[in-house]
Amino acid sequence: MIQKDQILEALQTLVEPHFNKNVVELNLIRDVMIKEDAVSLSLLVVTEDEGFKEQARASIQQALANIGIPQVHIRFRLLTEHERNRMEEPVQQHSEQANTSKPVQPPIQQPILGQSSTVEFIAVASGKGGVGKSTVTVNLAVALARKGKKVGIIDADIYGFSIPDMMGIEEQPQLVENVIIPVEKFGVKVISMGFFVQDNAPVVWRGPMLGKMLRNFFNEVNWGDVEYILLDLPPGTGDVALDVHQLIPQSKEVIVTTPHATAAFVAARAGAMAIQTDHEILGIVENMSYYESKDGSIDHIFGKGGGAKLAEDLHSELLAQIPLGAPDNHISEKDYSPSVYKADSKAGQIYLEVAERIIAKLQK
Ligand SMILES: Nc1ncnc2c1ncn2[C@@H]1O[C@H](COP(=O)(O)OP(=O)(O)OP(=O)(O)O)[C@@H](O)[C@H]1O
Ligand SMILES: [Mg+2]
Repeated sequence: MIQKDQILEALQTLVEPHFNKNVVELNLIRDVMIKEDAVSLSLLVVTEDEGFKEQARASIQQALANIGIPQVHIRFRLLTEHERNRMEEPVQQHSEQANTSKPVQPPIQQPILGQSSTVEFIAVASGKGGVGKSTVTVNLAVALARKGKKVGIIDADIYGFSIPDMMGIEEQPQLVENVIIPVEKFGVKVISMGFFVQDNAPVVWRGPMLGKMLRNFFNEVNWGDVEYILLDLPPGTGDVALDVHQLIPQSKEVIVTTPHATAAFVAARAGAMAIQTDHEILGIVENMSYYESKDGSIDHIFGKGGGAKLAEDLHSELLAQIPLGAPDNHISEKDYSPSVYKADSKAGQIYLEVAERIIAKLQK
């Protein structure tokens, strides 16, 4: 299979006319993904001019066709002013940047994203929908908070936001001096598109707006003192997942699957995306693993072994197997939520163990 290095080498022939240097040296090629014989990548550009993009597209296609890649999907992203300013400064160590293809600095110099930030980002991903990403995000965040950690959640599922409902959040974030204060529940700070949508109206934005909204969740929100931020990703390996990878190069990942072999196979794609974009996989959570009857007998309703197989394939570890079962919560309770397991329930205990494992792993 073609390697990323070969692609970057082939693209070194392309000169960016505004800077008069090659695009690889300038680190304008990002998110190189290889799937069988198809390649996708992002090109950072200084202009939205369609003619310019068309020309760039043709040149990239030609350069890659020359090394036997027939198909390439190219996404364009405008350089931020900050990135552009940096590029106009004399830059040293070009060759090193080209080799790692990591951004010289995070795209946005905000406290939680900046280089001095000590926040640990954990993106919760899956290959397909409905496997329990949001449930895992919420319960892992609450478990970390129960362990005394300062935790936030960014609901990065902009179209399909669900975190506020799952946690039973009813209030809205406050706006203080034009900065959004996240809503706190169970000791976890939360921001979600759901807070900014009236009456469950559908979100009908196109791609670029999604990325912009996501950036706002970092820039326009006062996160205060947080140690961990969990990101609930939309299902699959689409644009938002890529945006997150790009925006937070240092984020780690937890991958959620059900025990069925096909689910694990699909989840492997999310894992492959993490690996290709250099994001460490902290581990796999197998959700809806089995059903335990009152008499203690165990039934593997959705099959068996998917999580372990996925962990093996991704050279990672199986962090937990969470049984089927809704939380035993009642709407009459003071701190009601539909999806947060109580600390002393079986699932609640398992989430605490996962939290401990993750804390230990990240302390190393
Ligand atoms: N262990 C479990 N036992 C029973 N029900 C569960 C379990 N985990 C999740 N669910 C339920 O399954 C449904 C899907 O879960 P969730 O919304 O967390 O998945 P998701 O992967 O985030 O979905 P989407 O891809 O739509 O964002 C929800 O109704 C949730 O309450
Ligand atoms: Mg979800």
